[in-house]
Amino acid sequence: MDSSHSEILNFESTVPIVLNKLVAFLNESYLGKDKVIIQQHPHLTAEQLGLDNFIKNGGLNCNTIENFLETFLKNSLHIHHPQYFGHQNSKPILMDGVADLITGTINNPGSIYEMSPASLVVERVVINWLLSKLNWFHKKDYTDFSFDTKQGAGVITHGGSIANLKALLIARSVVQPEAWQKGNHNLVVLMSESAHYSMNRAVSILGLGQDAIVKIPVDAQNKIMPSKIPGLIEQCHQSGKTILCIVANACSTAIGSFDPLEDISTICKKYKIWFHVDAAHGGCVLNSEKHIHLVKGIEHADSVIWDMHKMMQTTALCTAVLVKNYQHLKNVFQQKGSYLFFENEHDLGFDTISYSLECTKASTALRFFFSLAYQGEKGLENYVDTVFEKAQIFYKFIKNKPDFEAPVNPESNIIIFRFTQGEDTNAWQLKLRNIVLKQGMFHITSTEYQNIRYLRLSIMNPNTDLIHIENLLSEIRAVASALNH
Ligand SMILES: Cc1ncc(COP(=O)(O)O)c(C=O)c1O
Repeated sequence: MDSSHSEILNFESTVPIVLNKLVAFLNESYLGKDKVIIQQHPHLTAEQLGLDNFIKNGGLNCNTIENFLETFLKNSLHIHHPQYFGHQNSKPILMDGVADLITGTINNPGSIYEMSPASLVVERVVINWLLSKLNWFHKKDYTDFSFDTKQGAGVITHGGSIANLKALLIARSVVQPEAWQKGNHNLVVLMSESAHYSMNRAVSILGLGQDAIVKIPVDAQNKIMPSKIPGLIEQCHQSGKTILCIVANACSTAIGSFDPLEDISTICKKYKIWFHVDAAHGGCVLNSEKHIHLVKGIEHADSVIWDMHKMMQTTALCTAVLVKNYQHLKNVFQQKGSYLFFENEHDLGFDTISYSLECTKASTALRFFFSLAYQGEKGLENYVDTVFEKAQIFYKFIKNKPDFEAPVNPESNIIIFRFTQGEDTNAWQLKLRNIVLKQGMFHITSTEYQNIRYLRLSIMNPNTDLIHIENLLSEIRAVASALNH
């Protein structure tokens, strides 16, 4: 028996053991009786997993996997738990785990067709579907791969942060194409005061520096005030700056509010400025008849990013960078790589490498495709509608409690609130959050809104019910009471 054969046999024996354990983990998570998260000391976890020993001596195989997984899963977040309402990561469709098993096993990484033909076909079809939601794809079939002048284009990348960087690179290749060779010249970016931090990072990574950020003031709902933009544009022009782009949120990370995209797009059109929309979280409403009004005007943007691993029930990571005009994706990187990029590629081919940030990239489009293909578009729409509706119910419930304050009626599925019976400080709210998280029955986050710290819930799981929120409020009261005595 050669070693490759024994490796396959080991694989064949290991997978059912893993499957068994995973199903038990999922059942436990869905039931929601045990903790969402246990955070024991990292050294203890490392020791219990036997990490040192495995590194030195090997031996992680079908005979040892069960013990390893026992500890690993015990120390993992139960994201499918109905009392997980922490960060904006999906409770994914379970078929996505199968997609990961397939892509991980066949290992067809690549941004080139010869390395991952099926994956890149899936990626293009998924991109066409996403473009169609923006009105940037007009063909009858998502499998129509030809381009025309009204055609948008896109590429899948590893997360919203990289996608935002990529969007700025695309904008720069159009606004200041010579920057690729000569470096940036006097560029500034106008963005919401409540833009995600990855946007600020992208500006510095691009070499513009934080001073190149011109913050657009927001209103009480963290929404850009369009009336403030023309004045800022004039100031930039007067000081000899070139505006790289205006960035809007759909929606904001802290409270999930949507910027007035239609109004902002009108200004961008008037001043001929590139318009980028960070729709990492809220792009999902493009697939919801009920909520699509929240992104009215997004179709006038030049670029959009959209995370599948947030509200599209997909495992991390899978993000789309989408542009309205497919020509704009072609010249982002003005380079030749003689072994990878070939001359005479007049259209965007199935090789995404010449317009991807990555050289090698994971076949993540399959994850999203499985989520979509398992339930169909309607299933995803129902998911979004359900969690948005539940957020409304939970918000009203919390708001009506005399000992809690919930200052913002959520537009999406993010709720902020604070417990009012205790120390009136930001540190106190953070303390409550940290203790609740440490106790492990709930996963909640916290954010600042108008310089005040709030507890924060992202309702990601359609199985979260009012009873879980009631339980949470009771636990917060109990923690606060223990702190007060
Ligand atoms: C509005 C917004 N943009 C970008 C990101 C970054 O996305 P990722 O975590 O996929 O890098 C986030 C993450 O929460 C976000 O809320």
